[in-house]
Amino acid sequence: MIEKYFAKIKGTGRYVPEKILTNFDLEKMVDTSDEWIRTRTGMSERHIASESQAASDLAYEAALKAIEDANIKNKDIDMIICGTISGDHPFPSTACILQKKLGLKNFPAFDVSAGCTGWIYGANIAKQYVENGLAKNVLVIGVEILTKITNYQDRNTCVLFGDGAGATIISRAEPKDISRFIDTEISADGSHYDLLVQHAGGSRMPASQKTVEKNLHTVYMEGNKIFKLAIRSMYNACDIVLKRNNMDVKSIDWLITHQANLRIIQALGKKLKIDENKVIVNIEKYANTSAATIPIALDEAIRNNVIRHGDIVLLASFGAGLTSGSLLLRL
Ligand code: UT7
Repeated sequence: MIEKYFAKIKGTGRYVPEKILTNFDLEKMVDTSDEWIRTRTGMSERHIASESQAASDLAYEAALKAIEDANIKNKDIDMIICGTISGDHPFPSTACILQKKLGLKNFPAFDVSAGCTGWIYGANIAKQYVENGLAKNVLVIGVEILTKITNYQDRNTCVLFGDGAGATIISRAEPKDISRFIDTEISADGSHYDLLVQHAGGSRMPASQKTVEKNLHTVYMEGNKIFKLAIRSMYNACDIVLKRNNMDVKSIDWLITHQANLRIIQALGKKLKIDENKVIVNIEKYANTSAATIPIALDEAIRNNVIRHGDIVLLASFGAGLTSGSLLLRL
């Protein structure tokens, strides 16, 4: 019989590129204003990858920090999962490239395409492997360089995205450890897949001169349709894990949601009836880094001593697919 273990977050790390693009920079590039961006989204600036940086470069920097924080060696990692939709190449996976960069081989490494829910999907998968005893230290990363597939002539999308990576080591908890994953839920509603899509570059619409001329390799998004679905789907994902564990929202110390829009974060907080001081927000500095928002916010809050050992944390996200998910844990 396979023994059942518990999974926990053993270490975290983050990396954002040096270059900062402010709302005022964007004012010079497209018909927008700092005022519109701040009031409609909560964003002030975002970090942008350099021409030579690819997703695995950002992921590598974040991974090194998480490995150090977890007090393990590279060789202790026995699985890599990258949540990303802007990997180095359409194939192979960014996780395999990262595995090579870390000097590792001979264990599973793969990407998860779940848009901004990519890290939560990855953590959900890692939990199963750790709990079944099939993995001990899973490196789960959310990494994105969406600015390389952003159309900087489209004000509806180009003000929203930033680049970054957040890394976590999800490990087997010691029997007496109070830190552990409590529950996680992931879901998808493919009927809305066309609201957020990169139209060209896949088998539906292979890359051609025409697709490049028409900017079809960039992010297409129907933002205001997603807005309402985002609040509803994250609320459902949170409600499911809370109810399944007979937990009241009052027992949650911290809520970290996907950082796509401050108004979405606030509306979800209100719907969940959680104290606004318990809601972690860093959207003003990083904007929407897609799959990286949650692990970046988690790492930042832990390193700033905001979230502490033993705290109950609820994480929730939604993204292209449309995917959604939540993770309830004791840090
Ligand atoms: O992480 C992936 C999932 N994606 C999301 O979570 C995005 C969710 N959606 C949103 O965050 C919001 O819908 C947006 C921030 C994308 C847009 O905000 P909104 O309040 O829903 O604006 P809207 O799209 O309804 O547009 C309102 C107006 C329009 O002008 P008119 O038609 O009223 O004259 C837009 O053209 O705002 C205009 N607008 C802008 N104006 C200045 C749209 N983008 C901009 C801009 N600067 N950057």
